[in-house]
Amino acid sequence: MIRDIVQYGHPVLRQKCRPVTEVDDSIRQLAADMIETMIDANGVGLAAPQVGEDLRLAVVDVSHDPECITMLKVNGADVELDEIMPLVFINPELTLSQHKESATEGCLSIQGIRAEVRRPSAVIAKLTLLDGTQLEIETDGLLARAIQHETDHLNGVLFVDRLPAVTKVSMKNRLKRLLEENQDA
Ligand code: NI
Repeated sequence: MIRDIVQYGHPVLRQKCRPVTEVDDSIRQLAADMIETMIDANGVGLAAPQVGEDLRLAVVDVSHDPECITMLKVNGADVELDEIMPLVFINPELTLSQHKESATEGCLSIQGIRAEVRRPSAVIAKLTLLDGTQLEIETDGLLARAIQHETDHLNGVLFVDRLPAVTKVSMKNRLKRLLEENQDA
């Protein structure tokens, strides 16, 4: 089932989400709905708070662009991108690289705004899957970025918070307008 995507200004987007302690049918349904919603919206990722659920669960799919990463290891072994996409993950813990790079980001909860965000270029992510398996994914490129963007959502952080101060100033009126539009809706 496709769910409504919560828009900028909704308080759930600013919440630090609760860990998922048990994967039951409602969590499995939520994950399936989130994948469907993400695909329908042409997104590369979606976090539970974006469909109004205060839980540490997110989905990512970058399989449309296999060239978007240069490295992908699961528990230390090389794997193909297709083998782990779409990725549903619970309670992520990230270790970030020192090296950073910039790329354009958008967000399904912040319509019409895209901007360059500087983030660590690689990540080691400890994740739990829906079947309870814990794994460690090491990657870079778009997948590293998407995992960071979605994990930020679980902490109430949005990509516009990570813009350089000067960009934030120029973005301020657009965000304010968006806030007003969403509050009227
Ligand atoms: Ni987002």
